[in-house]
Amino acid sequence: MFDEIEFEKIKRLPKYVFAAVDELKMAERRAGEDVIDFSMGNPDGPTPRHIIEKLVESVQKPKTHGYSVSKGIYKLRLAICGWYREKYGVELDADTEVVASMGSKEGYVNLVQAITNPGDVAMVPDPCYPIHSQAFILAGGNVHRFRLVLNRDFTPDKDAFFRNIETAMRESSPKPKYLVVNFPNNPTTATVDLDFYEKLVALAREERFYIISDIAYAEITYDGYKAPSILQVPGAKDVAIESYTLSKTYNMAGWRVGFLVGNPRLVGALTRIKSWLDYGMFTPIQVASTIALNGDQSCVEEIRKNYRRRRDVLLQSFANAGWSIDKPKASMFAWARIPEPFREAGSLEFSKILLKEAKMAVSPGIGFGPYGDGYVRIALIENEERIRQAARNVKRFLRASSV
Ligand SMILES: Cc1ncc(COP(=O)(O)O)c(C=O)c1O
Repeated sequence: MFDEIEFEKIKRLPKYVFAAVDELKMAERRAGEDVIDFSMGNPDGPTPRHIIEKLVESVQKPKTHGYSVSKGIYKLRLAICGWYREKYGVELDADTEVVASMGSKEGYVNLVQAITNPGDVAMVPDPCYPIHSQAFILAGGNVHRFRLVLNRDFTPDKDAFFRNIETAMRESSPKPKYLVVNFPNNPTTATVDLDFYEKLVALAREERFYIISDIAYAEITYDGYKAPSILQVPGAKDVAIESYTLSKTYNMAGWRVGFLVGNPRLVGALTRIKSWLDYGMFTPIQVASTIALNGDQSCVEEIRKNYRRRRDVLLQSFANAGWSIDKPKASMFAWARIPEPFREAGSLEFSKILLKEAKMAVSPGIGFGPYGDGYVRIALIENEERIRQAARNVKRFLRASSV
């Protein structure tokens, strides 16, 4: 019925590349195969006890059962301010520079809905977390992609990065209004230091564009590396908003808690659109999130250590199997170059081969944008034993395919 009625927005959304790998994974499992699943950035660990206990305590109070506050209860916004002060020495105004969201993805998508005029252009480095670009498409904007060129140590090639922005500002019509950055990066694990943000803020002021920074993995860092916040740069609030999530740091992905902070105009736009769309997260979730942010942080060190051990086991066991992977300094992923004999096939085909031949599921790099092909993303969401098992499967498969 009504086939002639087109849903233009839906037509602009490509089919999820990851769906192809997912379907194959399900087929393997239905056939009785034990698939080791590294495909999704979904933390497998439990939420720390003290956070759960706070949720339980709060849910037993009837006055927490009504509609909540769309932009986040005051205590949660204060806890967010405290977290920024403690971590980064950044002062935020809980009323005008902070808004809580139902996971950072919801906050990001609604921010983009709120601030995108038809035809507006956003610059998005590629590869990227898919919603970073698709949110602008959904909102009726356009995306200027540019390649995220990385050095061997997973830092961006700064010359290339800033040259790409300058070129976009000169050649794109209309001029881009927004730039999305995400460090530590999903999927590439790329990291930056504060001087990168200093340069970026200066350029944004000069060229007049807003920066949306996503630091979902800011706390999942290793070997002494600490991820900065763009808001540490003096004056950054004039041009930047930053999003963060409790999903990764506290194993709270299913709780859906995130927030955006920084530039009051952008925070205000998101707060306004959310006041029309939702009544806020369930109050007990907000209360427990307050405890997560300003309570004992030793759980974060445990979570970090767990990922680091898995990273080390992955790198070592896969190297033994004949697949050498460069060491990430942050995030819950490894960004692995496709082994030589399979590069021609591309990342989607290689992911399918890995599933069939090594019973291991990964995310094909092409799913994160055209410049992601050539790589697969391995999420550290299986335990060390399972990682070793995957390495044994890979070893067998690589041996068999080289004869
Ligand atoms: C870079 C990045 N940002 C945001 C998110 C979404 O997080 P949330 O659970 O807060 O929506 C993810 C999830 O994988 C992510 O990788």
